[in-house]
Amino acid sequence: MFYSAKTARYHPVDQLPGSPLAGSDGAYESEDHNHAGRQRDGRLSCASLFLCLLFTLVNIAVTMVSSQRTSTHNVTHKNLHLLRRPSQYIRFEEIPRPSPPTPRKFNNYPITFAQIDAADESKVFEEGLKAHMTPIGTVVPEDRRVLLTPTISTIVQFRAIDWGMEDCELHLSLPELGNMTFESQSAVNVELYRMNQTYPLDAAVLSYQSRPPRETKIESIPLARGESTTCHHRFRCPSDSVVTFELALVCTEVNKNTCGLEWWQKVGSTEPSPSVYLTQHATA
Ligand SMILES: *[C@@H]1O[C@H](CO)[C@@H](O)[C@H](O)[C@H]1NC(C)=O
Ligand SMILES: *[C@@H]1O[C@H](CO)[C@@H](O)[C@H](O)[C@H]1NC(C)=O
Ligand SMILES: *[C@@H]1O[C@H](CO)[C@@H](O)[C@H](O)[C@H]1NC(C)=O
Repeated sequence: MFYSAKTARYHPVDQLPGSPLAGSDGAYESEDHNHAGRQRDGRLSCASLFLCLLFTLVNIAVTMVSSQRTSTHNVTHKNLHLLRRPSQYIRFEEIPRPSPPTPRKFNNYPITFAQIDAADESKVFEEGLKAHMTPIGTVVPEDRRVLLTPTISTIVQFRAIDWGMEDCELHLSLPELGNMTFESQSAVNVELYRMNQTYPLDAAVLSYQSRPPRETKIESIPLARGESTTCHHRFRCPSDSVVTFELALVCTEVNKNTCGLEWWQKVGSTEPSPSVYLTQHATA
């Protein structure tokens, strides 16, 4: 095992007298010498055996202790975030950077899209995948679903990536009022919340009951007829941090039953409308 391999010493076997590999002269040793040699060998093998047993016991003890420790820290979806995430950018902070920073930016797309339903608190939505059959098999495009009704809201999460790009801008672009999945004739607002959740959610178990708490309301965006609506929200995003937003729909009493909004978003899509993504800008 690993521990004994590290600690047990290897004792070379004495060459047998008279064997073809023995010393160059090949002479036999005297009886006395031989006897003493055998005694020494006996003591040596006793010591080796003792060491062997000792290390075996140590090994078993260490294995039991470490297996006990790992069994209390089984890595599952629930505690995956407890694993250490060491920085990938070792000593980058020592590299001089221009101030003000060179203007650079890139887009970053959600790591999670998930729905929760206030009308069915324990409902877990199936992962929004648009699988379809083709002659060569099932194709699962990377489109993700955003679904909003008066009770169903959509949670999106982003992980800020890269080094020194810690100025984030959330882009939310919503379709025009007439283009909603469920036709709606009167005022509709999309509410954007920041949630108090700093590690990735497990969409396979997320329900309204287990949703993270809302932290702040960022904006309430009224949908307009005849034009798409956009919203920009800028915030600090430390490298490798996870930010969570909730999109909720608020409809008037009159259109409550027919009001709803749905779209499928392609990964990497910054198509004007509808979409939700992040732009990361360079920081000094
Ligand atoms: C950890 O996993 C092992 C085997 O998969 C299981 O026997 C043990 O009960 C688990 N421990 C906890 C705390 O979940
Ligand atoms: C709304 O729908 C019409 C027709 O279905 C389409 O031509 C138009 O581009 C859509 N507008 C938006 C903002 O999606
Ligand atoms: C977020 O939740 C944690 C505990 O889960 C709490 O300590 C913290 O104060 C909350 N932050 C805000 C801004 O509500």
